[in-house]
Amino acid sequence: MKIGIIGTGYVGLVTAVGLAELGHQVIATDKDINKIKKLEQGIIPIYEPGLEELFSKVRAKGLISFTPDLSAAIRAADVIFVCVGTPPTADGSADMSQIEEVARKIAENLNNYKLIVEKSTVPVKTSYWIKRTINLYKKTEAIFDIASNPEFLREGTAVHDFLNPDRIIIGVENERARDILLKIYENFQDKILVTNIDTAELIKHASNSFLALKISFINLMANICEKTEADIEQVALGMGLDPRIGREFLRAGIGYGGSCFPKDIKALTKIGEELGVEMGLLREADKINQDRIRLFLEKVRRALWVLKEKRIAVLGLSFKPNTDDIREAPSLKIIGELRREVALVQLYDPKAMDNMKQVFPEEPPYLVYHPTLYDAVKDANALLILTEWDEFRQMDLLRIKNLMANPIIIDGRNLFEPSEIRKLGFEYYCIGRR
Ligand code: UDX
Repeated sequence: MKIGIIGTGYVGLVTAVGLAELGHQVIATDKDINKIKKLEQGIIPIYEPGLEELFSKVRAKGLISFTPDLSAAIRAADVIFVCVGTPPTADGSADMSQIEEVARKIAENLNNYKLIVEKSTVPVKTSYWIKRTINLYKKTEAIFDIASNPEFLREGTAVHDFLNPDRIIIGVENERARDILLKIYENFQDKILVTNIDTAELIKHASNSFLALKISFINLMANICEKTEADIEQVALGMGLDPRIGREFLRAGIGYGGSCFPKDIKALTKIGEELGVEMGLLREADKINQDRIRLFLEKVRRALWVLKEKRIAVLGLSFKPNTDDIREAPSLKIIGELRREVALVQLYDPKAMDNMKQVFPEEPPYLVYHPTLYDAVKDANALLILTEWDEFRQMDLLRIKNLMANPIIIDGRNLFEPSEIRKLGFEYYCIGRR
């Protein structure tokens, strides 16, 4: 069985390398020819811990190959994992044009039976549209099946998540498709849940939206903490010790970002509304998340009053640690606002600076990227922490204090114990605690 992977973004690339690690023969393609060229030379175009090593391993075994030719990849494959993007449109619904394009290409190149597996996060009922599109455009009598096998990997731990899944959801409509996917994932037999396709599609959207809801909930509680003597870290601990609630995803901060949560909660809201279901719960969670940036900037203004020409060090640009991904990162909006108010912004991130330079090119003295966090904090009137990289937790605070013009920290990720950091002489503002 040869597996084709269409789209080599985070999900596609990790899936390709992961399936090769499981021993399958994989051929991957992407419409970005430069990406394919890099991959052919053994270069991984993204930063994801562990991916490069695993890629070299499966590449050396000859289990993975790449082609810029989508039609060739389709013809060569028996099973096709569709991993192309479904970005949000202006009204929040998912833009399905890349999926449709792939479906049409599959129809044109349907040279034998193929199983087409939706890996990208897609709205419930997408399989119906893929099927209809292929049937409309196919030129042969060859048959095909559709399946949904949503991906749950997290950036930063994607390789680990792929190889140690909590569950593998397989949405199918017949035994042939089920058996193929059971064979592909035979190493993880006890983790497999077989459902119908609509259910599998909804499990993915529901899981991401539920986690986003959990984060917005704790952020709402943080707002209450800030008006009382309650401490959000202890509230989260106290709630999380109840196994029905669980301790994960109760970290208050500047809100969720990334390529999934913000997009998926909007897409599910839209799907529900189209189906006539009242989706106020999710709309509210999204609103709470968007408001995190305003509340954080309010803290910055409370500490600095006028921002114009103040030196502000910003540590952390990626939407979470251990990735270079800045999609929907809170840093984007925060830096945008600092720029608007003509602050002098000094940036540092261990991995995401190259990506950020594409959005905010260097413009001294208003926006400067620094090679180390210590360079970034030099002469700063305040330091903002936007991502919880370990490097920031471990920084030499006394050195930081001596380098800064004013030792003020506004921490969007609650990295430090307020009483301890204040003892060192910092003015310290954090989220949901005093
Ligand atoms: C998420 C899902 O976890 C994963 O299963 C799915 O496949 C893709 O979307 P990812 O976007 O990589 O993964 O990151 P995740 O670790 O879930 O964090 C998402 C966002 O939530 C980040 O911006 C993070 O900072 C934020 N977050 C997370 C919080 O603000 N508080 C928390 O307690 C947890």
